[in-house]
Amino acid sequence: MRTTTPSRTRLGLAGALAALLMGAGLATGPAAQAKEKPPTLAELAQRHGRYFGSATDNPELTDGAYTALLGSQFDMITPGNGMKWYATEPEQGVFDWTNGDEIVNLARKNHQRVRAHTLVWHSQLPNWLTSRDWTPDELRAVLKKHITTEVRHYRGKVYSWDVVNEAFNEDGTYRETIWYKTLGPGYIADALRWAHQADPHAKLYLNDYNIEGTGPKSDAYYRLAQDLEAQGVPLDGIGFQAHLALQYGYPSTLEDNLRRFSRLGLDTALTEVDVRMQLPATDEKLAQQATWYRDLTKACLAVRRCVGVTVWDYTDKYSWIPAVFPGEGAALPWDEQLRPKPAYFALREALGGK
Ligand code: G3I
Repeated sequence: MRTTTPSRTRLGLAGALAALLMGAGLATGPAAQAKEKPPTLAELAQRHGRYFGSATDNPELTDGAYTALLGSQFDMITPGNGMKWYATEPEQGVFDWTNGDEIVNLARKNHQRVRAHTLVWHSQLPNWLTSRDWTPDELRAVLKKHITTEVRHYRGKVYSWDVVNEAFNEDGTYRETIWYKTLGPGYIADALRWAHQADPHAKLYLNDYNIEGTGPKSDAYYRLAQDLEAQGVPLDGIGFQAHLALQYGYPSTLEDNLRRFSRLGLDTALTEVDVRMQLPATDEKLAQQATWYRDLTKACLAVRRCVGVTVWDYTDKYSWIPAVFPGEGAALPWDEQLRPKPAYFALREALGGK
């Protein structure tokens, strides 16, 4: 984990330089100080023992202005697509690490950790897997091999895994995925056990959306976490995606909800944060969005075991939202020109920076 040392070192050097310049009779002062870099979101979060992360995706990595901010403002990176099943096992038994490795290597170069995403999901599966029927024995073997091979490949290189993604419906019943329909609810415990065997040091998460506030879906995770704990299944945390939308209201029970999971002995994290709005974005909506970013960050800081916040990419330029929710967007703290929005300044404020 990075510490605040680099910025302290920079300050120390700057101070030493100022002393030298003064000794040489050269002017220093507000103008010179103004050029000093403010701490990054990551550095601010580290002061609270938290991380501040961003998702990214391989096609964007050719954009130099984008990668400069990605590499400097954040200390945790999530591959938005590169580690999903369609990317990593496009043919049965044939593994392709190109996209995931590219992001892990970039993160390493930038001294960032990686939240790996995701092993078991119903979406973005390869055709070979979805286009035929499997017996339970066959599918268990397919799932075990995928998890074991992928987690072993990234063993020691990632901080955590979203082992199972989006397992529940809104009403708290199990989502009828290929996994649930063929294997029953036990696939979740199996997946966690296999992942733990393959990398005993990676933190293992269940991850979902619309569980930020208390309600049937969040309750389903609470019960599941209790059950898994009682069975001795390795589970370290719950990921609250936090894909929020201004028109649906702020999840005001977020902090209490994070806290009840903490009390089960679990880490929590906000894993895919964005706050979308109906376009066009107005000053008023951007101000409201900023308040939400501030409040959700403060909620995480208020709960001891909430380990960090990750935005689902940091700029509107590469957001998934306009393609999926036509007429909506402007969801991230930087705009399409990579200019910081009110939400960015609200994040800094929430993290105790200026
Ligand atoms: O790779 C193809 C490319 O070959 C093709 O030319 C292009 C044309 O549409 O599509 C590309 O695939 C897209 C893929 O992202 C990679 O860019 C898919 O269409 C697109 O649907 C897919 O969207 C991803 C989405 O998951 C799929 O559900 C988003 O980028 C990704 O940010 C998003 O992330 C999910 C999390 O994993 C789980 N939580 C919700 C979150 C948002 O949906």
